[in-house]
Amino acid sequence: MSQVSYDAPSRTYLLTTPATSYALRIGADDAPQHVHWGAPLTLAQAVALPTHDGVTSSFASTSGEELAVEGGARFGVPSLLVRYADGARCVEWVHEGHEIEGNRLHLRLRDRHYPLACTLHYAVHKDSDVVERSLTLRHLGTDEAEAPIEVLRCDAACWSVPAAAGVRLSHTVGEWAGETQLRRTEAPYAETVFTSRRGLSGHYGNPWVMVDAGDATEDRGDVWSMVLAWSGSWRITAHRDHTGGPFTVTGGSGHDGLTWRLRPGESHETPVFAGQFSRSGFGGTSRGWHRYVAEHVLPRPDELRPVVYNSWEATGWDVTLEGQRALAERAAALGVELFVVDDGWFGRRTSDRAGLGDWHPNPERFPHGLGPLVQEVRRLAMRFGLWVEPEMTNPDSDLYREHPDWVLHMPHRRRTELRHQLVLNFARTDVTEWAFTWLDQLVGTYTIDFLKWDMNRALTEAGWPGNPDAERLWSDHTRGVYAVIDRLRRAHPGLRIEGCSGGGGRADLGMLARTDQTWISDNTDADDRIAIQHGYSQIYPARTMSAWVTDSPNPHTGRTTPLAYRFHVAMAGALGIGGDLSRWTEAELAEARDLVALYKQIRPVVQHGEQYRLADAVQHRAGEKVVVIAWGRSRSLRLAGLSPSAVYVDDATGTEHDAATLLTHGLPLHLPKGDRPSTVVRLTRR
Ligand code: GLA
Repeated sequence: MSQVSYDAPSRTYLLTTPATSYALRIGADDAPQHVHWGAPLTLAQAVALPTHDGVTSSFASTSGEELAVEGGARFGVPSLLVRYADGARCVEWVHEGHEIEGNRLHLRLRDRHYPLACTLHYAVHKDSDVVERSLTLRHLGTDEAEAPIEVLRCDAACWSVPAAAGVRLSHTVGEWAGETQLRRTEAPYAETVFTSRRGLSGHYGNPWVMVDAGDATEDRGDVWSMVLAWSGSWRITAHRDHTGGPFTVTGGSGHDGLTWRLRPGESHETPVFAGQFSRSGFGGTSRGWHRYVAEHVLPRPDELRPVVYNSWEATGWDVTLEGQRALAERAAALGVELFVVDDGWFGRRTSDRAGLGDWHPNPERFPHGLGPLVQEVRRLAMRFGLWVEPEMTNPDSDLYREHPDWVLHMPHRRRTELRHQLVLNFARTDVTEWAFTWLDQLVGTYTIDFLKWDMNRALTEAGWPGNPDAERLWSDHTRGVYAVIDRLRRAHPGLRIEGCSGGGGRADLGMLARTDQTWISDNTDADDRIAIQHGYSQIYPARTMSAWVTDSPNPHTGRTTPLAYRFHVAMAGALGIGGDLSRWTEAELAEARDLVALYKQIRPVVQHGEQYRLADAVQHRAGEKVVVIAWGRSRSLRLAGLSPSAVYVDDATGTEHDAATLLTHGLPLHLPKGDRPSTVVRLTRR
């Protein structure tokens, strides 16, 4: 059956995913109205549904439109706000037709009078219940002399959830070293704004929300979720209407107050704001997003992520050839597959005060360049990676002395430094050309396998003197970053990239479309990581989650924890090690070696399996294999998602378990005694 169908008499469209349906209809005034998002319906059933006519027949402030505009008796949150050259505002749509291309629908709208066109895009997939939405805004003028149209807001999509279900919101809040903290709160009868005004998706909230009726659990219940694929500033506004209108969620790039001009002939593509309806609770919702990210977002989903060593916590800015060599030797002996030198290898970067922008090996630390270290790492049979922060410069750098105009700045305003650095304007093509050139040379010269691409501060004084439409840079900076990464990957197909932004400040689907994994936090304390990883896992899959084992006491929190516990928590993602191995005892190194070997055995299941979040544990299942990583004190753990008639055998002990028992009474856990007991159990279906 076709995934997109159309009923011409009623002008109703139906999108079909494996387990859900989505329907919309062109209303009497040609505005596209939302009809249905939930359980599967046939086209005939969708046609028979009434249209929620919020604009004309009630005082509801959420209109239930697919893209809420300003105009007529609409008083809800506009997804699209424009101002024409004569001062008029508002949009009055004419439905111009559509294209259905396989699994995609393009709905063409045009303003009744002004030269503004808008195409709403919908895409569905055969293997996912995620509906992808975005739009293209176009200025229909052909003559450059025509006036531009001012754009005050242009969201990617507005989603509608049935009013009765729009009761509770799930989202994350956070901060540096405390990212992705899950919050689940009753939705107020009002507009709730989730936003980042920082020019990056941000530590403080991740660009997604989930909506449910207040009764969903990890295992069951209806959940509507929406995720924005964007790495710059953004805004998502949820609106719970007290007069019975649908619960709406409109979202897109950019924060409030930014304005830019759409020029004659110009098209503007929004990022994707994707949505998913699931009947299987928050766990099912997350697994749906994990599958979607693997199948439709990540560039290389099938590759197993290597075990990484990263030098940051061990050496900070104190990077020397000898020191890195010594760490590399110890890392290789543990079974590490990729050795990454973090900050401190370039320019005069001996602290965070200088050097960003001068991307050549520090001549005192690496008198013969990076070659000798790269060779040593390769001799130890590891791949080689480097930390970079291409979007930044320190005022104390040759780059800044040469190009002080390359940073974001405004006339007569301070240049606010954060971490002693300023932001390069990646909306400028001379800047992105420069960035691509040095990155291309660096990666090419040393055949670098992996970059940790960092971004350590928010945008401030985001101006571009001389540019009459400077506020576009809020979005063009992000597009510039995307373009450089995409070009670099095309030029170096073997290169893999880890996204980082002062920890997890830019963890989003926009970055994941062009990176392989995310450094989700600078906080490596295993106790804290459990909550951070829990929040990250709501949307993003384990294979993208760099997870770290560092020293004890932990440098951030001072907390002392057992080595096995630190490993077990990190083994729930893409395992990394970042401790100062020169201080680990022989016993610790031996234990670490065994744990890395164990990780390599469970890695295909953890990275490519389906994840179930259990109480104080995560379970991953791939085919016949189940891996349970538990860090609580409970003696037994109820598993999830198994076929009740199956029988599982414990790989280590040979003990047999009926799945029916594992699902109801639980898996007996033989936890070690002492502080923070934890364990890994591997089961295979008989
Ligand atoms: C940021 C990153 C860290 C580390 C430092 C280096 O803070 O999040 O992991 O790379 O930069 O300066």
